[in-house]
Amino acid sequence: MTTEPQMSATFEDVSDVVQRFRDHDYVMPDKVGTVVYLAAELGKPVLVEGPAGVGKTELAKTLAAVTGRRLVRLQCYEGQDDTKALYEWDYGKQLLYTQLLREQIDSLMEGTTGLADAASRLRDHEDVFFSEHFLLERPLLEAIRSPEPTVLLIDEIDRSDEHLEALMLEVLAEYQVTVPELGTLVSRSSPLVVITSNATRDVSEALKRRCLHLSLTYPTAEREMEILQLRIPGIAEDLLGQVVEVVRGMRDLDLRKAPSISEALDWARALTLLNVASLDRATVEETITLLIKYDRDVERVQGEIPRLLGRAGIDVALEQQVHNHGDGHGHDHDQPHSHSRAQGAHHHHEHDDMRTDSKGYFGSVRGDH
Ligand SMILES: Nc1ncnc2c1ncn2[C@@H]1O[C@H](COP(=O)(O)OP(=O)(O)O)[C@@H](O)[C@H]1O
Ligand SMILES: [Mg+2]
Repeated sequence: MTTEPQMSATFEDVSDVVQRFRDHDYVMPDKVGTVVYLAAELGKPVLVEGPAGVGKTELAKTLAAVTGRRLVRLQCYEGQDDTKALYEWDYGKQLLYTQLLREQIDSLMEGTTGLADAASRLRDHEDVFFSEHFLLERPLLEAIRSPEPTVLLIDEIDRSDEHLEALMLEVLAEYQVTVPELGTLVSRSSPLVVITSNATRDVSEALKRRCLHLSLTYPTAEREMEILQLRIPGIAEDLLGQVVEVVRGMRDLDLRKAPSISEALDWARALTLLNVASLDRATVEETITLLIKYDRDVERVQGEIPRLLGRAGIDVALEQQVHNHGDGHGHDHDQPHSHSRAQGAHHHHEHDDMRTDSKGYFGSVRGDH
């Protein structure tokens, strides 16, 4: 990546952003490019919200790559405290030093009269152990103190507690951190800041106000095809279109977790590995767990597979005939419906029939091995 021709720290304009991200296999519409451009120009943090797997984290990583900045990442989680975000004292190192310096410390203590006296004498020397040498920088401090330019990624901020969010806000507002034992540490460079949220809770108004806001959603079919093509070189042309159509169809179903770009990529990679040139019902059923992660969702999707394939231009009636051949579980009653495949989920009994069929089909597949 360092050999990429354009690795300038600044962007010329929006199309420069879009182009350079694309050179790093990240595809974005102009709307997204505009926010990234403005954030870089204005030095403002970007708050990226959207469902899982739509490219929020990757946006920050790619921003670091295209600007030649080092990525510093703070992964947020529940119950995280300041010491993991800002700094903490390197207790292990302090302990080691006190042991190695035992003799010196003993001689320092010589002639003290009682505990209070000893403690007071030790206190006179404690700044040795609370110097920068024993300070462990955590991502927030590391990013602003880094001598080289950085991209600071605060990932999944909605998982952290509100008090930590307030602390981050403070750091981002002032670009400095006060360590009581050391004083105020000011920033050496301004990081480009990307904050992501899966929107499991609302982030504070104050944070929203400070940031440029970017809402990522599922891409258009065209853009998703471009992403798959870039990220899976050698993917079969027919398969590419089919995967995107089927995945888009699944997103329209009312699932607990709709397949995102990451699942589409995983699925397409798996299909490519399995040398699938074109989708059929059996292949979708056999590989569905790459796309759909909850049993309830799998059940919901099973019955829709013929319709989804139809959407992708695959004639299920014809395809079923091929698969029915010799497996002893006739799928004949699928056929009268397959001509109306593009028409949504309205015959519930029909789905049940198909589910039974698909089980029968799975059974026969297993029996073959
Ligand atoms: N616009 C995009 N262009 C290229 N790849 C993308 C894009 N959006 C997502 N991806 C890919 O999808 C996967 C998931 O993206 P990620 O950034 O981890 O999602 P999020 O952080 O939103 O949950 C990654 O492998 C990423 O490379
Ligand atoms: Mg992420």
